[in-house]
Amino acid sequence: MSATGGEKPVGVREFAAKKKSGDKLIVVAAYDALFARLCDEAGVDAVLVGDSLGMVVAGLDSTVPVTLDQMIYHGAAARRGIARAMLIVDMPFLTCSVGEERAMLSCGRVMQETGAHAVKIEGGDESIARSIRAVVRLGIPVMGHLGFTPQSVNTIGGYRVQGRDDASAQRLIDDARRLEDAGAYSLVLELVPAAVAQAVTEAVSIPTIGIGAGAGCDGQVLVLYDLLGLNDRFSPKFLKRYASMAGDVRDAVRRFRDDVAGGAYPDADHSF
Ligand code: KIV
Repeated sequence: MSATGGEKPVGVREFAAKKKSGDKLIVVAAYDALFARLCDEAGVDAVLVGDSLGMVVAGLDSTVPVTLDQMIYHGAAARRGIARAMLIVDMPFLTCSVGEERAMLSCGRVMQETGAHAVKIEGGDESIARSIRAVVRLGIPVMGHLGFTPQSVNTIGGYRVQGRDDASAQRLIDDARRLEDAGAYSLVLELVPAAVAQAVTEAVSIPTIGIGAGAGCDGQVLVLYDLLGLNDRFSPKFLKRYASMAGDVRDAVRRFRDDVAGGAYPDADHSF
């Protein structure tokens, strides 16, 4: 319990403590106040407002067109639903890859205008590490993101597992160490062979959060719409669906349609 009587909020110290204790970190990507509240009430450690929202809710082909203003709009909405979980907002394409000053100003805007507790930045090269170092120096916790990095889908050439050969697996370990050294408090590993993700996890002292990266990570993240089964056209191997809501939604809307068409709704119980 916190000093104000509510449950203790999750922050960077709780992330670090779970790496030490071996308790798994649970992160769910959600994009609005209602779903963020439901995730928070379900006991997740963090809600991630991922730039996957461009594909999941805006119907884009990739995350590349997602803008900073769009991330801020969704981040602020999700923040209003959260009482305890950590809110992490993804930094969209270009905001952190073209120099430290732009990264600092962009991350600063996200923190001030959404109330987020942390940001997530994709990539692990020297220039991203410099941006992360500069952002952390401002007092902004940064989660890194390695493996498949969706903002680079056009150079990677599709949604592909990364780190399959020895050289690229070693690069992932080197990048992870570089991000830890730059001050990242945690790290997403996306689409990485389980053994490689485990090796990365053992190579760093910050927690790794896997998606399509096997059971050896310190935590797991899934997109809420995916785990709810809201998109029945998206079935990657790593996805486990915990509900089948696409069918439920279609069925409910069909029954509403039939009720209205047949005169069964609204009836006296639902009228003033
Ligand atoms: O954008 C996103 O939702 C993400 C997670 C899948 C890790 O980056």
